[in-house]
Order: sequence, then structure tokens, then C-alpha cells
Amino acid sequence: MKFSSFASGLLALGASFASAAEMVKRASLQQVTNFGSNPSGVKMYIYVPNKLATKPAIIVAIHYCSGTASAFYQGTQFAQLADTHGYIVIYPESPYSGTCWDVSSPASLTHNGGGNSNSIANMVTYTIKQYGADASKVFVTGTSSGAMMTNVMAATYPEMFAAASVYAGVPAGCFYTGTVNGWNSTCSGGKSIHTQQEWANTVFNMYPGYAGKRPRILIHHGSADTTLYPQNFNETLKQWAGVFGYTYGQPRQTISNQPASGWTKYVYGPNLVGDYGAGITHNIPVFAQDDLEWFGITGNNASPSTAAPTTTLATSTKKTSTAPATTSSASNGECTSQHWGQCGGNGWTGCTVCASPYTCQKSNDWYSQCL
Ligand SMILES: *[C@@H]1O[C@H](CO)[C@@H](O)[C@H](O)[C@H]1NC(C)=O
Ligand SMILES: *[C@@H]1O[C@H](CO)[C@@H](O)[C@H](O)[C@H]1NC(C)=O
Repeated sequence: MKFSSFASGLLALGASFASAAEMVKRASLQQVTNFGSNPSGVKMYIYVPNKLATKPAIIVAIHYCSGTASAFYQGTQFAQLADTHGYIVIYPESPYSGTCWDVSSPASLTHNGGGNSNSIANMVTYTIKQYGADASKVFVTGTSSGAMMTNVMAATYPEMFAAASVYAGVPAGCFYTGTVNGWNSTCSGGKSIHTQQEWANTVFNMYPGYAGKRPRILIHHGSADTTLYPQNFNETLKQWAGVFGYTYGQPRQTISNQPASGWTKYVYGPNLVGDYGAGITHNIPVFAQDDLEWFGITGNNASPSTAAPTTTLATSTKKTSTAPATTSSASNGECTSQHWGQCGGNGWTGCTVCASPYTCQKSNDWYSQCL
């Protein structure tokens, strides 16, 4: 009797710990430290809206070099839109100085290999369990180094993600150096050129034997990107065309001025779309609304969207123009945001001046845009 009430006391204590873990403060960015195995020391932050959908979707949103979970949370609209649509956002944060992602070591480029990709996948598994999220609605997106990691997540955990949206990245495996958190300048310079079959094999080799479904891929890149050269757009398209059995260079549809003026949308089929921005630099806008459609959280992901760009990451993405070892030169202050780019808003620390002839126009308290 005594023993059993002691035991049930312990159980109750256990249960209260479990629910304490569930109770992150809603509608704000919160760190989660107990998400399970974290072989590469990645930090986990989460945004859970006040009004959570039943069986919510999950978006993993991955920052650029020099970025943080908090900067990506503030600099993109994914959390704000979660308030409307009831999904959860996971913001992983790089453990390395310079905060690039490890997209270069065999560990991170392998399913359950113990690298950054493994830690991020464990955050997803934890979140599905903790919030009763819909395992068939898990998505991943990222900018620059985060876009490289997005391709790596899609390649190493194809069973986990339903769709991905990539902003100025490189193909999965292109940044290989054999070292943790390396910088591959052959790849960044757009000089790693392979056939679509070779690139597809790189993906297949990251999870040998896997024969299931793979995430749909939406790739964005700017033609004036001098950090991760635009050839990386072509190579990434080749990679996923190879995976899905499309023919690179033969999109089914080419649509001008989508998702925004000056961009071209290349529709290969339901699993692969490329958005190429003429004159867009590495300071690329994030089309969060468009991503929600691509993910199928809103609208109909089969039809190309006309959503206006919503967010850009200015100064901080520019800092990625130097390799982690040499990040010292980027000076703050005098910088310009491109057309559609963000130029102001609460918490905004990026450029506040717009490239001519655009002017900075307030959309709301959190967001002003170069229009
Ligand atoms: C960079 O990546 C390419 C593949 O994209 C590879 O052939 C090359 O060896 C890598 N460079 C280094 C320094 O590891
Ligand atoms: C890469 O893709 C862009 C957009 O479709 C195209 O304009 C460019 O010619 C391609 N580059 C090569 C080398 O094929």
C-alpha cells in the first residue's frame, strides 16, 4: 500500500515533468534543451502559436551563416504566419563560431550519421511526439548555408519531409570537404558541375537503400549571386531532376514574373520547381506565403503562386559572402536592400536604404519593404 502510493507519487511527478516539458511559452521564440539525442550540439528553438491546429504541421526554418535562430525568426514571416495557420516552427541554431552549418562532413551528409542533420531530425521527431504534430506535414526551408542544409535534410531524411524550399543554396553534397563545417570554394564558385545522374547518386548515397517517397523541392536563386554562384541553381535543379526522373533543361512550363516581377518560374512537374531571380544577389527575398502554398499549408500547391515576396535577409546574409574563417570585413551601416527586400520594422537590424529607384515603404510595424 505504502509502496504503491509512493510509486504513484513518482509517476505523478514523472507526468508533471513531462507536461512541464510540453509547456514552452506560446507565441514567442523558446529554447528547448531536452529534445533527445543531439550528437552534434545544435541548439533547438521553437515557436508554438497560441492557436495550434489539431495535428499541426511543422516547418523547420534554418538560418544563414552569421545568423541565429532569433535572427531568422525575426527576419522571416514563418512565425507570424503560424499565428494564422496554426503550425509549429523549429529554428535550429548552428553550434559553430560563424554559425554556418556542417554540410561538408560525412557525418552530416549521412542519414543518422551523427552530424547536424541528425540533430535537426531529432528535433522534428521530438516535436511530432510532443505536440501530436502531423508527421506527413513536415517541411524544411532555409537561406544560404541554411539552404544548403535544407538540401542536405531533404537528401538525408527523405522520409521525414514532405516538401522543401531552398533560398540561395548549393546541391546536397556539393560542399563536401570531408571536414566538419568546412567551406568548399569550388562549389560556392559554381565550379562543381555534374550530370543529373551523378548529382542524384550523391543524394541516394546519403541514405543507401532508401526507396520511399522524397520531398518536393522548390529552389530559389538570384542571377547576380556572387556568394554562391548562380550555377548552383542549375546544379541543384539537375540534382533533384535526376532524383525525380525529370530531364534538366526541359521544364514543362516556364512562367515569367513569378513568384515576383523579374523572376522566372521553371516548373518541372509536381515535385520540382525552380524560381530564378534576374538581378537578385545573395541578399535574396524569402517568399514565405509562397512557401506555405508549396508546402500545401495554404492554397493549392499544384498551381504556381502569385504571392508577393514577404521578407528578405539583408546585412546578415551579405556577411555570408566570406567564408567562416574570414568573416571580419562586413561592416554595418551603409548597405542597400534590393527591390522587394526588407528595409525596416521592429527588431530589424539590416539595411534601411533601398537600391535606386525603390523606396522603403512600411507594410506594418514589423516589416518595411523596398518597393
Ligand atoms: C569540393 O566539392 C567538390 C564536389 O562538389 C569536390 O570534388 C572537391 O573535392 C571538394 N573540395 C574540397 C577541398 O574538398
Ligand atoms: C542556368 O539556369 C538559368 C535559368 O534557367 C539559365 O538562364 C542559364 O543559362 C543556366 N546556365 C547554364 C550554364 O545552363
